[in-house]
Amino acid sequence: MKTRIPRALGVLLLVAGSAAFSQEGEPSGPADAARAEAAMNDLGGRLKTALTAKVQADGPVAAVGFCREEAPKIAAAVAAERGLRVGRTALRHRSPANAPTRWQEEVLEAFVERATGAPPASLSWASRQDGVYRQARGIATEAACLTCHGSGIAEPVRAAIAASYPQDRATGFSEGELRGMFWVEIGKGSDAGEVRP
Ligand code: HEC
Repeated sequence: MKTRIPRALGVLLLVAGSAAFSQEGEPSGPADAARAEAAMNDLGGRLKTALTAKVQADGPVAAVGFCREEAPKIAAAVAAERGLRVGRTALRHRSPANAPTRWQEEVLEAFVERATGAPPASLSWASRQDGVYRQARGIATEAACLTCHGSGIAEPVRAAIAASYPQDRATGFSEGELRGMFWVEIGKGSDAGEVRP
């Protein structure tokens, strides 16, 4: 696995306590950063609310199918409403549709290194290159996530996951571990609400 970040990406990683985050490359107004942050909060909040309600109402097996159907739709809705691209990705991903692009993979690898000394959700990155503004933030594995992303997953849940995601790599996580990241892209066609959920 690569550990070096290409200079061209202008990577700056910042941990909790820093005032927002920094960027390299072309100057970027605070508006993009605020929009990106709001979109990630919106996506994370909507996903968590919907998933928690589904698990409580119908149990984790039903929630697997719900997540498969609804997670991409929720990301697409947030993107369309806000005129940007937004989603979740991870090195060890469940859905092939969430596989990282090149820049996302490089940021994730950098986050993995940084996560040893910082809470995952405090990991933040931003860059502007060729008119496209990109931002990402780490996602922590919480206790509630272990039902579907931990070790020793209950058999009916494991079977439901295997049926929908034969190439699943998103198990074996521990509480507090970096699970993946939210990402946002603004610019170059983002007004169409185009999305990679
Ligand atoms: C009921 C089972 C379930 C629970 C609980 C659950 N997830 Fe997931 N998770 C899924 C499924 C299914 C997908 C694939 C969704 C898709 O097809 O887009 C997924 C995808 C993800 C992804 C996108 C990257 C990938 O692996 O495809 C992230 C990040 C993620 N989950 C984080 C979390 C976090 C953080 C929690 C706890 C707050 C959590 N999940 C709780 C089932 C679950």
